[in-house]
Amino acid sequence: MYTLNFSATNKAALYQELLPQIRSIIADEPNLTANLANTAAVLKEAFGWLWIGFYLVDGSNNTLVLGPFQGPLACTRIPHGRGVCGQAWATGETIVVADVHAHPDHVACSSLSQSEIVVPLYDGNGNCIGVLDADAAQTAQFDETDAEYLGELARILQPLFDRQAV
Ligand code: SME
Repeated sequence: MYTLNFSATNKAALYQELLPQIRSIIADEPNLTANLANTAAVLKEAFGWLWIGFYLVDGSNNTLVLGPFQGPLACTRIPHGRGVCGQAWATGETIVVADVHAHPDHVACSSLSQSEIVVPLYDGNGNCIGVLDADAAQTAQFDETDAEYLGELARILQPLFDRQAV
């Protein structure tokens, strides 16, 4: 059994506590679904965000399809370039949205969501294979610190996408 340990109240320090633990949790497990599910669980437990999860590229029809997540019922598919998730996939850039209601192409999965961050995920060949998406019930929840550490998390997860897709 793995017990999660964290106590920091400062955001950067909390990420610094959590990321090595995520690295350990996924180290010996080859199954992609299991590892993404536990990663979402760790982030949900530590930060208490409204929604945290993954959308993965379905190359057969150029959409993102819902992957492991924690939080309310979510949209199943998002087309390339649509919404914050589809834009992060299309541009390959992390997107921080302080107020989703002010964003011209936000896809609303929950009326409770007020702010959002989407981080693209890459395999070892530099292909974007999906995105990590976090939503908060407060405006301006996410900033450069989240972008930096969730970007580091994307690099920790990267070997998973080369190992196995289940
Ligand atoms: N808001 C996202 C859609 C995903 S849900 O928030 C879980 C978007 O605009 O792409």
